Amino acid sequence: MRIKVRHGGKMDFALARAWRIWDNIRVTKQHKKEHQMIRVNENYLKIQASYLFTEIAHRVKAHQEAHPEAKIIRLGIGDVTEPLAPAVVEAMHRAVDDEAGRERFCGYGPEQGYAFLREAVAKNDFQDQGLDVAADEVFVSDGAKCDCGNIQELFGADIKIAVGDPVYPVYVDTNVMAGRTGANDGGRYANLVYLDCTAANGYVPSPADLAEPVDVVYLCYPNNPTGAVATLEQLQAWVDWARTNKAVILFDAAYEAFIRTPGIPRSIYACKGARECAIEFRSYSKTAGFTGVRCGYTVVPKGLVGYTAAGEPVELRPLWTRRQTTKFNGASYISQRGAEAVYSPEGKAQTKATIDFYLENAKIVKDALVKLGYDVTGGVNSPYLWVNVKGDSWEFFDRLLKNANVVTTPGAGFGRAGQGYIRISAFNSRANVEEAVDRLSKVLA
Ligand SMILES: Cc1ncc(COP(=O)(O)O)c(C=O)c1O
Repeated sequence: MRIKVRHGGKMDFALARAWRIWDNIRVTKQHKKEHQMIRVNENYLKIQASYLFTEIAHRVKAHQEAHPEAKIIRLGIGDVTEPLAPAVVEAMHRAVDDEAGRERFCGYGPEQGYAFLREAVAKNDFQDQGLDVAADEVFVSDGAKCDCGNIQELFGADIKIAVGDPVYPVYVDTNVMAGRTGANDGGRYANLVYLDCTAANGYVPSPADLAEPVDVVYLCYPNNPTGAVATLEQLQAWVDWARTNKAVILFDAAYEAFIRTPGIPRSIYACKGARECAIEFRSYSKTAGFTGVRCGYTVVPKGLVGYTAAGEPVELRPLWTRRQTTKFNGASYISQRGAEAVYSPEGKAQTKATIDFYLENAKIVKDALVKLGYDVTGGVNSPYLWVNVKGDSWEFFDRLLKNANVVTTPGAGFGRAGQGYIRISAFNSRANVEEAVDRLSKVLA
């Protein structure tokens, strides 16, 4: 309680001042005691300080400043370079017109996506391919990164997770943020199970490689960063494992559109029993150049369950519905109309032509590197090439940057097993790819 002070002479004034100071100290102390300081989520502090692409940007900037005349070619970050398909652009223009008039104006849409897109996805990406996915199992979003990152919210805090090494960092970092790991020691987090993806296993680990039992495994094929693809038998082994062990597969198919070899599955649902144990992520980013437009989707089949601590099965689809309706307000109407146009006859032909173009880029780079004597994985069925540099990743990165003005991605940035490799991306203009190959051939000859 504050002490009242009688006003009056000089002494009273000094006394009042002293009381006020004392009182402030007392109240601040009490406040600190009652309201602990605002605490941060210290799991964020476990994440390795230097983000791979920040370090690359830093080195490229330093090189450009030292050599302002250098024409740097970027075969590093996996962003697309080619413009949207005309069919998509036209559909998005029409969607803008819809938004411009009272009659067809669309405000908030369904959080799970508009029926027109969910139905087009179910039909074209699954049912027409003989795969059993219904429109109400498709959840449209603003891209696969958010979905890959958010999906872990459906699972218990103490579950065990397995990831590949090297790996798309989103799977790992989102689980670190959620507190499912210990500290990072030498590039690996405690309490996370790593599956080495190496030349020895063709960059596709199997359930037999699991060092201990896990509840969830993230799989990504065609793979970022290795460019490897998995056969139906390899994926089926994971599905069989998941069903036996009441585990869940989180299957990232962001690059499925690059698959050209007959028989390589584009979806985990090509495997028998996958509906009981797998969630699949898809993206229009690489399929149709939507990295700036933003649209993707996640399939959560009916009947796929997790369990309570008491062993009661709980369907994951209603949980994901709940998660999305609470925390997400839907992808933009304009993006969804653009995505719908990917499935029109013109949209299919035009987006395929762009992917063929990137695949030809990949072939040009791969052929040149193989001719130079390098072991290269990917570059077929994938926009990424995984090159064994027979030395340190970052040293090779620096060598190509300094001597060829070509930016690549050091494999070590994707995990310990990525040391000794670089990733090269085929997303570029033909002129840049040819120029880069010319320079690499001179530097590496
Ligand atoms: C494996 C993988 N999954 C997901 C994504 C994210 O895609 P989106 O642009 O749809 O968020 C990427 C993007 O590079 C990726 O490489």
